[in-house]
Amino acid sequence: MAILECQKVSKAYGGLLAVNNLTFAVEPGEVFAIVGPNGAGKTSLFDCISGVSPATSGVIRFREREIQALRPHRICQSGLARTFQTTVAFDSQTVLTNVLVGSAFGREGENPFLSFGEEAQTAALDALALCGLAGRQRAIAGQLPVLARKRLMLATALATRPGLLMLDEPFGGLNPGERGEMIALIRDVARTGVTILMIEHVMKAVQALADRILVMDHGLEIAQGPPSRVLRDPRVIAVYLGTLRPMGEDSEPAHA
Ligand SMILES: Nc1ncnc2c1ncn2[C@@H]1O[C@H](COP(=O)(O)OP(=O)(O)O)[C@@H](O)[C@H]1O
Ligand SMILES: [Mg+2]
Repeated sequence: MAILECQKVSKAYGGLLAVNNLTFAVEPGEVFAIVGPNGAGKTSLFDCISGVSPATSGVIRFREREIQALRPHRICQSGLARTFQTTVAFDSQTVLTNVLVGSAFGREGENPFLSFGEEAQTAALDALALCGLAGRQRAIAGQLPVLARKRLMLATALATRPGLLMLDEPFGGLNPGERGEMIALIRDVARTGVTILMIEHVMKAVQALADRILVMDHGLEIAQGPPSRVLRDPRVIAVYLGTLRPMGEDSEPAHA
């Protein structure tokens, strides 16, 4: 049984159809990647699933329950967490406070008055340890370098104790060495049993992590399946390179 199902999901901004009739399902325990050029509608799709901006039409089910009409905090509390393309945090607060906020608000029944119960504290400390930030709890979020900020956003999302974690371009802005560290971190997270739905441009990372891939262009599905098949699909190569050359590891989309 799929953990997440999207059926004929569309998102219109006025006359622009950013997501066009997409259907796919994510199985428990897999890493599912969504790739495609800038403007393909990937983030809009994430916004629909996470409730940040509701889908115009279609059905979205998480753990067999329809969520397309739920508010984002309810979706998060039901076990679906996300990160954002630009790294967001409470910049004036410490690393620990940021992650505690995730653990306190990301669960139904947690009290909303910023007094953190034992369970919330344990979840926060576990998330920090998993994300390699155990030694930086007192650092101010706004002063962290880029990779540590990304680790923090991931830890904050994980502290909500999600069953499905959605990552919007976790490799954006990282150098090759940092990309390697992020691949290792996402693998560690996946190993804890969290299902991962990931938007990514960096092909090396997609190839290293993804069990299945959905390729989007102009809101539409171009291809869907295992990387070995999808990355050889001529339509996918055309979207990425505008030619029929095989895709290189670090290929960027043709009109990114
Ligand atoms: N809030 C919005 N209002 C209007 N248009 C938007 C909005 N968000 C995204 N778009 C448009 O929707 C299309 C898809 O954007 P986006 O989902 O950000 O693509 P991607 O994440 O694949 O780069 C783009 O043409 C973009 O300009
Ligand atoms: Mg995007």
